Amino acid sequence: MQIESDVVIIGGGAAGLSLALRLGKNCRISLISKVKVEEGSTYYAQGGIAAVLDTEDSIESHIQDTLTAGAGLCHADTVRHTVSHSKENIQWLIDSGVAFTRQQPNQSGEYHLTQEGGHQHRRVIHAADATGKALETTLVDLVKRNPNIKIYEHHIAIDLITAHKLGQPKQACHGVYALDRQSNHVRVFRAPCTVLATGGASKVYLYTSNPDTATGDGIAMAWRAGCRVANMEFNQFHPTVLYHPHAKAFLLTEALRGEGARLLLPNGQEFMRQFDPRGELASRDIVARAIDHEMKRLGSEYVLLDISHKPAEFIKEHFPTIYQRCLQFGYDITKQAIPVVPAAHYTCGGVITNLDGQTDIPGLYAVGEVAHTGLHGANRLASNSLLECLVFAQAASAHIQREKCSPVTTTLPEWDESRVTDSDEEVVVTHNWHELRQFMWDYVGIVRTTKRLQRAERRVNLLLHEIDEYYGNFRVTNDLLELRNLSVCASLIIQSALRRKESRGLHYTLDYPDPDTRNTITDTILTPHNYSPATS
Ligand code: FAD
Ligand code: SIN
Repeated sequence: MQIESDVVIIGGGAAGLSLALRLGKNCRISLISKVKVEEGSTYYAQGGIAAVLDTEDSIESHIQDTLTAGAGLCHADTVRHTVSHSKENIQWLIDSGVAFTRQQPNQSGEYHLTQEGGHQHRRVIHAADATGKALETTLVDLVKRNPNIKIYEHHIAIDLITAHKLGQPKQACHGVYALDRQSNHVRVFRAPCTVLATGGASKVYLYTSNPDTATGDGIAMAWRAGCRVANMEFNQFHPTVLYHPHAKAFLLTEALRGEGARLLLPNGQEFMRQFDPRGELASRDIVARAIDHEMKRLGSEYVLLDISHKPAEFIKEHFPTIYQRCLQFGYDITKQAIPVVPAAHYTCGGVITNLDGQTDIPGLYAVGEVAHTGLHGANRLASNSLLECLVFAQAASAHIQREKCSPVTTTLPEWDESRVTDSDEEVVVTHNWHELRQFMWDYVGIVRTTKRLQRAERRVNLLLHEIDEYYGNFRVTNDLLELRNLSVCASLIIQSALRRKESRGLHYTLDYPDPDTRNTITDTILTPHNYSPATS
């Protein structure tokens, strides 16, 4: 039986949940999540959400900081659109019940605003150091109580069902195939509107701050369906992830530096001001590159982050999660510096959309980290990501409601498994998964060269070929689907990086160490073979 709805949303993070909640009462929604709905990057967000809330702050100042971080590639209209809608979206979260931290410990009065790298003002509203958890759990609770929204957990979307794939001339998206991971059955979700809210692709790197869900599924699905992607070379590395053999992807929020934490070499020496006059609060690309440079220069496996000079009570009140978690690993952050390393954190590029979240395919939207809206340019400003999720979910929901899409009348074929068998070689998937993430880290990381990128390109092409063969012969599994998507994203990252013959923002190559100063610098746009311009 096919599952019919008005809108199918793939992903239950900030983007997917807020979109589902903003769609009107008359809309039947299916929300698919490949694991438990809470699990995704949103849940782990720490620092907060950037918004113009302080009377001393201004929209122009937030716009300027976003443009400066973006190093010449932000789309001015997108930046203005996003920043101008920041305050009302924070109010929407407050009205929805998200308990942000206030200035007074008794939780009354003004909200506390913290500061992060690249911001000239304190403008990051937060729920202590676990903003994502507060947001995600509040919105999940509302979604679960909403009778119009049906959640399908443990369903991994495989591929979009498009009119072109069905041999129809007029391109459109009719829904998606998704594997029910518990019954191992592939289901058809049919809807006139499909929304990719699948998050980013940072799992393409060996070391990442992201949870396991960040395998770029939405980007790969959209690419295979015929959507263009942009700026995939701009992978943001967060400067401070805990360095500990047993700490998988534990981030130490930039708000620590915003509240005075310093970066030190292993011998205790400060170093950030040699790289940027803003020191620890320089934008993330600069801080991550400075750490990488110092680690390589000294042959060190980490640098140190130190906030122990601040009062212990202040630290425990503002960073309770980090304090507790570090204690579990044997570090008391009120007393000592802690070892940190950079790790892949955010995918600035993605599926190209307009200001309504529409992609190149009619009926297909992309919202959140999966999308390229033009907000982040060559480097995302801290805490602008959750804001983008909220603002574009609001815009896409308004557009979907205005469009009033008519139901899909086409017959959609069931998933065909007649020519495949169960795999007896799962080791191929595991091996390729490790190989891919290792060479992406080694050859396509913080500092790149053309030779390393070409080496990575040869390897990814081989992997793509092998995975295609495997995919054609064996029954789909979660790991195979994720590996297939990660390889597509890796290939898009490498191709984009090879095209950019300059260093800018997060893309730094020793072969072209300077930014191209001609006025012709634009986004790196990759176009799939099945892209149909008439539909854009
Ligand atoms: P996600 O929250 O990642 O949600 C994606 C959803 O899609 C998940 O439910 C996942 O299961 C589902 N999914 C994926 N693929 C499929 C598929 N094939 N089928 C079905 N479901 C699928 N940004 C800020 O602005 N401020 C911060 O303080 C901040 N801190 C961060 C801290 C950490 C540790 C991390 C990792 C990120 C942080 N970010 C922060 C970035 C921000 O959290 C993310 O960019 C944002 O949450 C992305 O939201 P999203 O809804 O697009 O995706
Ligand atoms: C952090 O809290 O340092 C992460 C903020 C972000 O990714 O925007």
